[in-house]
Amino acid sequence: MPTFAVTAALPGRAPEMLAAAGEVRARADAERLDRADLLALVEGVEVAVTMLYDRVDDELLDAAGPGLRGVSNVAVGFDNIDLAACARRGIVVTNTPGVLDDATADLAFGLVLAATRRLGEGERLIRERRPWRWGMGFMLGHDLRGARLGIVGLGGIGSRVARRGRAFGMEIAYAGRHDSPYAAHLGATRLDLDELLATADVVSLHVPLSAATHHLIDAHELGLMKPTATLVNTARGAVVDEAALVEALRERTIAAAGLDVFENEPEVHPGLLELENVVLVPHLGSATVETRAAMAELAARNAIAVAAGEEPPTPVKLPGAQPTRGDR
Ligand code: DGY
Repeated sequence: MPTFAVTAALPGRAPEMLAAAGEVRARADAERLDRADLLALVEGVEVAVTMLYDRVDDELLDAAGPGLRGVSNVAVGFDNIDLAACARRGIVVTNTPGVLDDATADLAFGLVLAATRRLGEGERLIRERRPWRWGMGFMLGHDLRGARLGIVGLGGIGSRVARRGRAFGMEIAYAGRHDSPYAAHLGATRLDLDELLATADVVSLHVPLSAATHHLIDAHELGLMKPTATLVNTARGAVVDEAALVEALRERTIAAAGLDVFENEPEVHPGLLELENVVLVPHLGSATVETRAAMAELAARNAIAVAAGEEPPTPVKLPGAQPTRGDR
């Protein structure tokens, strides 16, 4: 019987699925394990089921020992995992793509609406009991109908945000390293990143965090955006240079932003907290009861397959590895 280490309590059927397939060593609640407890939990297990905040590096792999066959991350993102270290040791890595696309796209579009229509600002005004009256020029935002939605990374989540944009009458453009298979269906035009930033009314980020995308949106890129444009980030905080974003929002070189993720999560840049033209939510992209259960169940299926020496449903391609059917 394999042993699974599960670093936070999982919802849905995942716990019983894992228990039926092996011995489960699990954190009993949803709180984060501190590093020492995490290293102790993984010692001697075949598969570690990890959260996006668990750093999986040589230290953790050493603590787990030579019997570790796989790391099943309960997230689509895997920037917490040192893929090269896993590849060197022949450890399979899996993630949870697909099942969170709609929930994350809903949240991203919620931020589009909240930021372009100044919902956070309006809410604060009323809650702070500040005086207000309806007026022709009072708290105006910008229309979505006819506006250009620029998606950076038209994959599973990005394409669903685009679909929502289409329903609101937006024109869709995207930037990415390759032509997207979703583009034709969405009537989306591919532009290079600079042109996308210069022409979009709303820019929504959907790229994984890697060395290539770290600070992809920096002061220079923000400087290309229209003064009426809105930036939404539900990907990873470090895709945006947060200090440069504070400056752009403060100087109103862009109109607004909606952020679900932060560069030094859970810390939020103090400059953002002072600004009215940014909507801030605490990494809620996949945070629905149904989606979290689906993520946990997919992670359990991945872990069980790896422990059994089978091809997991959604493997992550490791550096130097041949593509497998699960590559995305
Ligand atoms: C992920 O799965 O990577 C998301 O950020 C979770 O919300």
